[in-house]
Amino acid sequence: MYKIIRNILFMFDAEKVHHFSMNALRILCSIPFIKKIITKLFKSPQFTNVEPSNFNFQLFNLQFKNPVGLAAGFDKNAKYLNELEALGFGFVEIGTVTPLPQGGNQTPRLFRLPKDKALINRMGFNNDGVLVIADRLKKWQLSVNDLPLVKKGLQIENQLPNANCKLIIGGNIGKNKITPNENAWKDYEICFNALHDYVDYFVVNVSSPNTPGLRELQEKEPLKKILTHLQNLNKNFTQQKPIFLKIAPDLTQTQIDDVIDLAQEINLDGLVAANTTIDRDNLNTQHSVLNTMGAGGLSGLPLKNKCTEIVKYISQKTNGKIPIIASGGIFNGADAKEKLDAGACLVQVWTGFVYEGPAIVKKIMKYLYKNK
Ligand SMILES: Cc1cc2nc3c(=O)[nH]c(=O)nc-3n(C[C@H](O)[C@H](O)[C@H](O)COP(=O)(O)O)c2cc1C
Repeated sequence: MYKIIRNILFMFDAEKVHHFSMNALRILCSIPFIKKIITKLFKSPQFTNVEPSNFNFQLFNLQFKNPVGLAAGFDKNAKYLNELEALGFGFVEIGTVTPLPQGGNQTPRLFRLPKDKALINRMGFNNDGVLVIADRLKKWQLSVNDLPLVKKGLQIENQLPNANCKLIIGGNIGKNKITPNENAWKDYEICFNALHDYVDYFVVNVSSPNTPGLRELQEKEPLKKILTHLQNLNKNFTQQKPIFLKIAPDLTQTQIDDVIDLAQEINLDGLVAANTTIDRDNLNTQHSVLNTMGAGGLSGLPLKNKCTEIVKYISQKTNGKIPIIASGGIFNGADAKEKLDAGACLVQVWTGFVYEGPAIVKKIMKYLYKNK
């Protein structure tokens, strides 16, 4: 069924279809009985007839209802959390969020490569800016928790019970395009402080290929400065939030070793492996087509093996001591299991969601349950 819908959707501009589909889902979910049906339709097996303890995905103090999340960049502005929860996601990583709102790069900037089950994007951190997004998250949390005070319109500053939110929210943070790299730490600080009350964990993104110079921050010294600064800020809050670092799949082995050393040295909470790649090798899509698409990060199937290798390498080198969220080329249950077997504790989808459709979480969970 989704294949037919997909064939129709793929006839139109990828970014427009993205917004159209999510807005359509939002309209459907705004009707309570339709939302109930959608939620029931996409419910993962463990919620119906399997003991939750069989799928006990706990990380730090966070209880994930399942290990399948939505990767950063899909719901950049935290606009569709209820709808994504209805589709069964265990967690959603919002962002990348920057201090100031940004329009991102010129359109078109998102392209499909159906022959490779892949996408190329050069979005360039288009987002509403951290203040708007923090406010949206605050309202969402309050609506989820349905505090009576909200309805009365009273001040509710200190009543944001994160722990009760069923959907885990990750806050993926970055720097504005206009911020020079030497001041990048300030941008991360602004986003970290503004989102701290409203997200369950943070991801420091220094690995997007679409912000000029950003990936240079993956070098050990600038990285250490940003991460240790955030760790110090974290201590100012009563409830500390886990901090992850998202790495590029294009790092050399020496660079990955540096990241591992640093993570161990500063006691980083975890890694997200990996972001999109700038590599264009071994694609089925013709060179001439690739040339018309231009620069950007490649995601989807061509990333799959590379990301699994990185997860496995980090896991083996650290004896599984650094929690890893795996992202890259996950389309089905077997792909998710491959990442979990390689040492990941959670998985995220993005391109797979576009190609496989809204039942992707349910299908992955069914497979994981049968093959655990
Ligand atoms: C259109 C698009 C936008 C993305 N935007 C972001 C982003 O803002 N921040 C980020 O950390 N990753 C971003 N990503 C990378 C994804 O989060 C993910 O790591 C990557 O696509 C690999 O997973 P996949 O193969 O399942 O797509 C984006 C990916 C796509 C396709």
